[in-house]
Amino acid sequence: MAETAKTAVLQEETRIFNTPQWIIEHSNSFQWMKKKGFKTEMEMRAWCSENYVDFWDEMAQSYADWYKPYDQILDDSKNPYFKWFLGGKINVAYNAVDRHAKSWRKNKVAYYFEGEPVGDKKAITYYELYRAVNKMANGLKSLGVEKGDRVSVYLPMIPELPITMLACAKIGAIHSVVFSGFSAGGLNSRVTDAESKVVVTSDGFYRRGKPLPLKPNVDTAVQDAPSVKNVVVVKRTGVATDMVEGRDIWYQDLVAAQSDECVTEELDPEDRLFILYTSGTTGKPKGIEHAHGGYSVAPAYTTAWALDVQEDDVFWCTADAGWITGHSYVIYGPLCLGATSILYEGSPDFPNLGRWWSIIEEYGVSVFYTAPTAIRMFMKAGDQWPAKYNLKCVRILASVGEPLNPEAYMWFRKNIGADQAPIIDTWWQTETGCHVIAPLPMTPEKPGSVAFPLPGFNTDIFDEEANSVPLGYGGNIVQKTPWPSMLRAFYKDEIRYKKEYWEMYWDVKPGTYLAGDKATRDKDGYWWIQGRIDDVLKVAGHRISNAEVESAAVSHPKVAEAAVIGKPDEVKGETIVAFVIVKEGVEETEDLKKEVAKHVRTVLGPVAYPESVYFVKDVPKTRSGKIMRRVVKAKALGKPVGDTSALANPESVEMIPLIG
Ligand code: WTA
Repeated sequence: MAETAKTAVLQEETRIFNTPQWIIEHSNSFQWMKKKGFKTEMEMRAWCSENYVDFWDEMAQSYADWYKPYDQILDDSKNPYFKWFLGGKINVAYNAVDRHAKSWRKNKVAYYFEGEPVGDKKAITYYELYRAVNKMANGLKSLGVEKGDRVSVYLPMIPELPITMLACAKIGAIHSVVFSGFSAGGLNSRVTDAESKVVVTSDGFYRRGKPLPLKPNVDTAVQDAPSVKNVVVVKRTGVATDMVEGRDIWYQDLVAAQSDECVTEELDPEDRLFILYTSGTTGKPKGIEHAHGGYSVAPAYTTAWALDVQEDDVFWCTADAGWITGHSYVIYGPLCLGATSILYEGSPDFPNLGRWWSIIEEYGVSVFYTAPTAIRMFMKAGDQWPAKYNLKCVRILASVGEPLNPEAYMWFRKNIGADQAPIIDTWWQTETGCHVIAPLPMTPEKPGSVAFPLPGFNTDIFDEEANSVPLGYGGNIVQKTPWPSMLRAFYKDEIRYKKEYWEMYWDVKPGTYLAGDKATRDKDGYWWIQGRIDDVLKVAGHRISNAEVESAAVSHPKVAEAAVIGKPDEVKGETIVAFVIVKEGVEETEDLKKEVAKHVRTVLGPVAYPESVYFVKDVPKTRSGKIMRRVVKAKALGKPVGDTSALANPESVEMIPLIG
């Protein structure tokens, strides 16, 4: 076995938590298991993965409606460009909205919208959602948006966000949502790469009690984005907003004149639904493409099986729709099931740290899905906040985005889950579109472990030579078979897609997807995620590339070079630290440090703000000029730096300060 695979990690966690029988028996996955006659969970998981094509076929029939049935489930002849549900016709907007609006669910609440200002609330039924989507779809058409055109969506978590996404889907346009925590620079690169015709934004949004502007970022971002013909602006806060004559139009005015009926396009299942830019190892974000067919199936299946969302649940996924978790579990998954969800605009601590718990109590949230960084923040703030509220309504808890450490697991379980709700720790990625490794409600849980690959996946851990590593050993997470909500390509860059995800094992086992994370399995086969193998940061669960922050820092006129690392942080998982080399003759001052951090914030957005900046004279590099962030990080954190023989400038290592 290859040397690198011998990174066995001894898991010391011995606690096991069994979910109460009533929760298990009530669960969707348990009922399916009984119906099919499987005796154990592991037997079921194994069968579904071995027979993954049949399994996904059944999921596609159970969870989606097709205008025309497909005649081929999977086409794997052009590996790694897989196609699903060939010959069928479908639209995810039909599955998420139209069919419910035409059924008994017509007056069922799709979203309880909760604005940040206390008391700003609105219940939106499926029928209301249907009409709002139709109006916006007609509005987009009136601006000349056609099938295949891209629409960038830069909105806070307000109802117009899902409405705009669904309106795009309805007419076959491709949405590209950009998180509103990115600033003009981050928005510009995403709008220009996608060549979007329209940008949908808002005048502003509420954060910690204050109305903040958003539209000015769009004005800056589209200055040199010639593809953009119109900017549609939702009036949210009423702050004074400059509107450019002939280009900008108020959302409210655009939809007012439109009919509330609109034909849903019958699409090919491989027609693109959206592009979502995510961070890779270079400074250029990757435009991950997803398709209508797969997205009508896999988010709904996992919302039902892993999160166990049922007809009478009130589901709350706290993610922003600017990230993949919002796409799959605020929008497409729950809506395809006809479920009721919460949509919350603001921050978790406004007006105080009880806000989230008050929402759970008020609406009777029964399934609650959030991120470790938030759990750790609340853990730090103390038990007294959740203790003020009646959280007995909670049946299922879930987590995503980064490892949920056992301490946070225990706090979440005890304080929010009344010591009985299972915690579904879901491992997945922008690229996978849906959960891949997770417990089911019936799975006995080990705090800190993501349990096992879900039914339908053939996930494994490989060493460098494509051997599956034995229990107790670590290696690379891989997918050995395709799945419907897999990424299809990078927008306008199919070659890079193949190179990044499929090249690693191509010669030995073609068709093996390299996830980019390491994991290990303990003696019982439980999976433990060990983190990324590449230079991708996870700051408060947000995926940011080191290279992107470095290039933002270097765009400051006084900065010559920068190396960015993640520093472990109790709450956020990681914080951003930048080592900066200034240009000849520039004075290294405390003010300049602040200026550089502020500059990164201006270029990329608050989400990429460096917590600290250090000046250095040089950074370790390979002979080909690549910054060795691994070495920078080890030296800065006082860890062994390992082999530095490949460095062009080994003396630079000593120049990296220890960062306490
Ligand atoms: C990390 C978020 C540990 C992982 C859905 C992955 C996790 C990256 C978990 C994808 C988890 C996600 N435990 N790590 N439960 N879930 N990750 O694309 O490193 O924003 O590769 O998708 O988040 O981040 P992305």
